[in-house]
Amino acid sequence: MAQPKQRWDPERYARTARFVADHGAPVLDLLAPAPGERILDLGCGDGVLSEKLAASGAIVVAVDASAEQIESARARGLDARVVGGEKLDFETEFDAVFSNAALHWMKDAKAVIDGVWRALKPGGRFVGEMGGAGNVALVRRALHRALESRGLDPQSRDPWFFPDETEYRGLLEARGFTVNSIALFERPTPIPGPMEDWLDTFAETFVLALPENERDSAKAEVSKGLQAELCDEAGHWTIDYVRLRFSALKPTDTSGRWA
Ligand code: BEZ
Repeated sequence: MAQPKQRWDPERYARTARFVADHGAPVLDLLAPAPGERILDLGCGDGVLSEKLAASGAIVVAVDASAEQIESARARGLDARVVGGEKLDFETEFDAVFSNAALHWMKDAKAVIDGVWRALKPGGRFVGEMGGAGNVALVRRALHRALESRGLDPQSRDPWFFPDETEYRGLLEARGFTVNSIALFERPTPIPGPMEDWLDTFAETFVLALPENERDSAKAEVSKGLQAELCDEAGHWTIDYVRLRFSALKPTDTSGRWA
C-alpha cells in the first residue's frame, strides 16, 4: 500500500521552518555565485534562498517536487518549476547546482547525482548542504519507537537519507566529480516553537502512518521523551542536527567518462 506522503504547506513552512533558509548563508558563501552565472537551485522549497541567489546577479532556475512550494517560489518572481530531484532533465546548461536542506529527502542519491552531472556544464560546480549521518538521531529514534510500539514498521516510513562524508564522497566520485571539500559537523539547531510543530513540518510521514486519533498522543509522547535532552527549562527546543556540507566540481575534461 502506498505510504502517505510528506506535505509542504507554504504557510506552515514559513511559520515553523524559516530557520532552514537562515542557516543557508554559509552554503551560499561556499557557492560564491557570480553575476550572469546560470544556477540551478535543487529543492528550492519556497524560494527564499533562490531569491538571494538571483539578487547576486545569477540567472536562477529553481526546482522542487512540491507544487505548493513552487507556487510560493513563483510568487517571488522566480523561474520555478515542479521537478523532483531524482528526475532532473537538464542537459549541460548550468554553471552551478546549489542545494540547501533538500538532498536528504531524495533517497535515490545516485539518480540525483546523475541528474546534477548532466545538468552541469563541464567545469560546473555542485555545492550543497544536507542532513548528515547522525542527524536528528534522538528524534528519529523516538519516532521509530513510537511507531514500533503501535505495531508499525518505522523503516518503511522513514523518508530520510543522511550519509556520512565517506559515503557521499564515494557517490560523487563514482559519477566523476572532483570533491573539493566535504565535512560532517554537528549543528544543534534551535527551533521557533514546540516539538510537535517540528514533527508536523519535518516528520509528517511518520505522523501520517498513525491512525488519525492516535497522532496527537504519539506526538506528545515523542515530545515528552525528548524533553530532558532537547528542551531547556524555559521551554526552548534545540534539535540535534548534523550537517554534511560539500563542494564538488565536474571536471572540464570528461573524456573517458559516461557523459
Ligand atoms: C530539513 O529538511 O531541514 C530536515 C529534515 C529532516 C530532519 C532535519 C532537518
